[in-house]
Amino acid sequence: MSRPGIFITLEGIEGAGKTTQVRRIVEFMESQGFECIATREPGGTDIGAKIRAILLNSEHITLAPMAELLLYEADRAQHLARLVKPALETGKCVICDRFCDATTAYQGHARGLSLDFINGLHAQILEGLAPDLTLLFDLPAEIGLTRARARLDAQNSTGLEGRFEAEELAFHQKVRKGYLSLAKDAPGRFAIVDAEAPPDQVWDQTKDLLARFLAQRSAA
Ligand code: TMP
Repeated sequence: MSRPGIFITLEGIEGAGKTTQVRRIVEFMESQGFECIATREPGGTDIGAKIRAILLNSEHITLAPMAELLLYEADRAQHLARLVKPALETGKCVICDRFCDATTAYQGHARGLSLDFINGLHAQILEGLAPDLTLLFDLPAEIGLTRARARLDAQNSTGLEGRFEAEELAFHQKVRKGYLSLAKDAPGRFAIVDAEAPPDQVWDQTKDLLARFLAQRSAA
């Protein structure tokens, strides 16, 4: 697909602080003259919000791994068709909190579903689209999980969004390892941010990476 827009994705384990950075990335990219759309997976469309509610409800302990995978892909197919692709085709900058790498890391590396099968689904669903830049907010799983669980407690969570926070530490360690191996395999697309640092320092790193990305893009 030929397209004039910019597609930036954010990835990381639970508690990596991605959501805080999304707002700052939008402000920064707008200050550079780009019209931006901030979105997320799962749940970037109205139908996707319904799929998100199924996926994250901590009462859904019987959700089978393959059903989970296909619900993430259904959310993505809808999101790409109705929001991401149209926005990129009209030249917008799309900033997406999680995308395909999350499926490869969570459902593939951590749940153990076939990576070949997941890659095949992505080939069908993406039709050649790939993020221009993927920011991986990396930190030890112990720290991320402690942060994420504290956030849920502070929000007096009703369990509507806690299904992954309830997974064991070993699961989140596999997710982190999966992300790091994806980053190693695609160094041109990934940039790693040390997300253990305080939010302002995380932002300083992110801003430098965005500035470098834009400089390379305008030189190309
Ligand atoms: P969020 O809380 O960052 O919005 O992410 C929702 C949860 O869904 C998070 O625990 C990661 C998980 N997830 C997957 O397992 N596979 C995916 O493909 C995506 C996009 C998210």
